[in-house]
Amino acid sequence: MGRVYAILGDIHANIEALETVLADARAQGATHYVCVGDVVGYNAAPAECIRVVRDELQCPVVRGNHDHYVSYFDTNLADFHPAAAQVVEWTRSQLTNDDMSWLHNLPLQKPVMGFMLVHSTLDMPDHWGYVFDNQQAESNFNYQYTQICFHGHTHVPIIYANTPGGVVHYEACDFTYEFGQKLFINVGSVGQPRDGDPRASYVLFDMSARQVRFRRLEYDVAAAQARIRDAGLPERCAERLEQGR
Ligand SMILES: [Fe+2]
Repeated sequence: MGRVYAILGDIHANIEALETVLADARAQGATHYVCVGDVVGYNAAPAECIRVVRDELQCPVVRGNHDHYVSYFDTNLADFHPAAAQVVEWTRSQLTNDDMSWLHNLPLQKPVMGFMLVHSTLDMPDHWGYVFDNQQAESNFNYQYTQICFHGHTHVPIIYANTPGGVVHYEACDFTYEFGQKLFINVGSVGQPRDGDPRASYVLFDMSARQVRFRRLEYDVAAAQARIRDAGLPERCAERLEQGR
């Protein structure tokens, strides 16, 4: 049997969403797991999510900007929105030294069995640039040497393709690809979707069939919100989960 990868991204300390996604991935026949970063941030279960990704899945992971802010003490929180700084500091208070050094040492990009993982873009992975249009995707393709690269960061699932006529994009949809065209695929967010659909997002990638499938799943949003409120984190973090924004 070929490898079927579950590609998870922007989990953002949402253990309810993560557990739901993992149950679905197992039911769908996933054999391997990878993560395109931002295991922590925004939501209230950072230690739990690290435990699942690092200890249970033991899968390849790249560093997201929130993983970075939390684990690099030269991060200047004075430049942050006060609510964002509060979440970074609270997250630090929840983690062990081992958790912190695990986040700190995550690579910015990682090759996995012939495809790439990055949180933001391959051209400047430590600048955390957002890819919202074809032009922004073009800079990435200049540094993409594999046919497939998965990324996250915007929390919006989308497919960019580098065609002979230039970069085009497609709405997230299931497809089988041919050899040739490079694809830069945003898998959406497990723990804080922002495309107006509050359901958890991830991708299944069947390498031998060259098949990509986008999955959306309802999960216990109310439980994730209760956890945020109990922790005293900003109310906006709870509200946006039900809005998908
Ligand atoms: Fe994120």
